Amino acid sequence: MGASDKGEQHSQSKEGDRVKKLWTGRFTKSAEEWVDEFGASIEFDQELVLEDIQGSLAHVQMLVKCGIIPAEEGIKIKSGLEKLQSKAIDSELAYSVKMEDIHLNLESMLIDEVGSAGGKVHTGRSRNDQVATDMHLYLLKHAKNIIHLITEFQEAIVHQAEMHVETIIPGYTHLQRAQPISFGHHLMAYFWMLERDKQRYTESLKRISVSPLGAGALAGTTFPIDREYTASLLGFDTIYENSLDAVSDRDFIIEFLSNSSALMMHLSRLSEEIILWSSQEFQFIELDDAFSTGSSIMPQKKNPDMAELIRGKTGRVYGNLIGILTVMKGLPLAYNKDMQEDKEGMFDTVKTVSGSLKIFSGMIATMKVNKETMRKATEQDFSNATELADYLASKGVPFREAHEVVGKLVLYCIEKGCFLKDLSMKELKSSSGLFEQDIYSVLSPAEAVKRRNSAGGTGFEQVKAAVEKAKDILSANKEPQIL
Ligand code: ARG
Repeated sequence: MGASDKGEQHSQSKEGDRVKKLWTGRFTKSAEEWVDEFGASIEFDQELVLEDIQGSLAHVQMLVKCGIIPAEEGIKIKSGLEKLQSKAIDSELAYSVKMEDIHLNLESMLIDEVGSAGGKVHTGRSRNDQVATDMHLYLLKHAKNIIHLITEFQEAIVHQAEMHVETIIPGYTHLQRAQPISFGHHLMAYFWMLERDKQRYTESLKRISVSPLGAGALAGTTFPIDREYTASLLGFDTIYENSLDAVSDRDFIIEFLSNSSALMMHLSRLSEEIILWSSQEFQFIELDDAFSTGSSIMPQKKNPDMAELIRGKTGRVYGNLIGILTVMKGLPLAYNKDMQEDKEGMFDTVKTVSGSLKIFSGMIATMKVNKETMRKATEQDFSNATELADYLASKGVPFREAHEVVGKLVLYCIEKGCFLKDLSMKELKSSSGLFEQDIYSVLSPAEAVKRRNSAGGTGFEQVKAAVEKAKDILSANKEPQIL
């Protein structure tokens, strides 16, 4: 049921078909219904219902503590808010589009619950600091949850990488076979990308964990409020220093969307590889049935739909980032109604990123790796050509000359229809007298991988060490599950 449908129920059950707005004093006539609907945000900002109640609870507690409202009224308001809270959890609140947004809906429901004392909840506060507070609370929770989901995905990657340290695949540049590498090494590249993503989200928490509450509409308030107190009740580390900045800052959302864009870009690149690897042409992996779909017409098909969808959803996250940047770019201080457009992109990004991470954890944990196909691929190409050039270079031939010698050998093989390992000693010697019998072991892909033991390279020792390091990192930063 849409918010407006629920709203009709609410308005009819309470006051017939006219709902009294909470700001009618200054007005002599009311807007037409369709105009109200256009300006309303309740359809989407009801997502903030729990944060809004949480903010009001802290605000009321502070109003009582500072002697701004009597304790009895504070108790009344608190019990009303708690009733609304449990109704919200049970999805029993009926919102009205005529009440515009979540803040006005809840305030009107509170007045219905506890009588006119409910009207005191908004003392020393404005919807402008209220909505900003809600979004800080919302993102604090969801950014922490995303950090947790990244960790879970990293665990799935490390587990697969550990099982495939010695599984060899062609490594690519320009999507042309370049040099053989460890499949575990390839997977671990994503571990480190995700580690940077996680660091970015973690670093951003300190800018999310700032309380705008008490900034009022833009200038602060005449009431003797205690902003530090509400900040600590809400679990924020600090408060905004400037009331104008507090109500008009959306950097924390932009930063979240930017961090999410980088994360999605990484997921999209891995999606692309998954799609390639599971194609008939590569056949390097097979996705579990649980993460694939069939075709309604072609019975043989098994499509990597989830990876494609995540690659596609990356576009909407970028769009959300560009959307909010564009909304904000021309706004004079402080609050402007344009800023109501900040929410849907944020909600959508939270949903997209969280869902994509969960799918990826399952997809990587359950994928089947076709080691044999991978190995064969590395044996039927020229990705060991660098080995030959390095061999000559290690015997004192300038690398540029070695490169030329091997290039000619590759051409010779192509013309003859064979690979480097198929050349006879005589054929090799005819291009360089430095080739000895040991060249054949150098040409084996596994040997080529093993020998690339420089720091951060694909050598088995390096990959094993990287897996251990990753495990240490994961156990040191075990993030608690939030949602
Ligand atoms: N629904 C509004 C928003 O999301 C809340 C703040 C409204 N403030 C105002 N002065 N109209 O931005």
